[in-house]
Amino acid sequence: MEKVFFFFCVFSCWIMQITSSDLSAGGSSDVLRVRMGENIILNCSMIGRYEVAWFHLNSEQLNMLISAKKDKTGRRLQIKYNQNRTRLEITADSWVTGVSLTISGVTESDSGLYFCGTNSDAPEMHFDKPIRLEIEDEVTVTERVLMFGGVGLAVFVFFLTTIVAGGIIYHRGWQKGLKASKHGALMDQRSAE
Ligand SMILES: *[C@@H]1O[C@H](CO)[C@@H](O)[C@H](O)[C@H]1NC(C)=O
Ligand SMILES: *[C@@H]1O[C@H](CO)[C@@H](O)[C@H](O)[C@H]1NC(C)=O
Repeated sequence: MEKVFFFFCVFSCWIMQITSSDLSAGGSSDVLRVRMGENIILNCSMIGRYEVAWFHLNSEQLNMLISAKKDKTGRRLQIKYNQNRTRLEITADSWVTGVSLTISGVTESDSGLYFCGTNSDAPEMHFDKPIRLEIEDEVTVTERVLMFGGVGLAVFVFFLTTIVAGGIIYHRGWQKGLKASKHGALMDQRSAE
C-alpha cells in the first residue's frame, strides 16, 4: 500500500509539472506575469548607447511608449517623447549605464511584447530580448486552481480504480485457488476410497 501511495505522489507531481509548463507557454522571450493594477519595471542596458526607446507590441499594433536621449554630459537622460506621463516613467543610474521604465497600474491592454531599442554611433537600432507581459486577473488564478484540482482528482480516481481492480483480481484468483484445492482434496479423498 505504501508503494502505491508513493507512485501516486510521483505520478501526480509529474502531471502537475506538465500542466504548469503548458500554462507558462513562453517562446524565446522572457515572461513577466503580474496581476492587474500592479506596477512593472523594465530594464535596458545603455552601455555605449546614447538613445533609448521602448516599444509595445500587441496583437493589433506596435506603439512607441517613451524615448529619451543622453545629454551632452552623458550623465542625464532627456525625455523626447512620453505617450502617457501619468503612468510611464523612465529612470537611469548615475552613469546612465542602465535605464528602467516603470509602468504603473497595468491593465489587460498592457499585455504583449515589450522591446527596448537603443542607438549607438552605428546607424541601426539595437534591440534587447523582448519581455512578454501577461496580465493575470483573479479569474485566471481561480481557473488554474480548479484545473490543478481537477487533474489531481482524475489521478486519484485512476489510482483508486487500479487498486480496487487489483484487489478484485487478487480476490478472484484466491477464490479460484481455494476451489481448485478443495476440488483436489475431494479427488484425493475419492481416489483414496
Ligand atoms: C528590473 O530591475 C528591477 C530592479 O533591479 C527589478 O525589480 C525588476 O524585476 C527588473 N525587471 C525585469 C523585467 O526583470
Ligand atoms: C494615461 O493613463 C491614465 C491612467 O491609466 C489614463 O486614465 C489616461 O486615459 C491615459 N491617457 C492617455 C492619453 O492614454
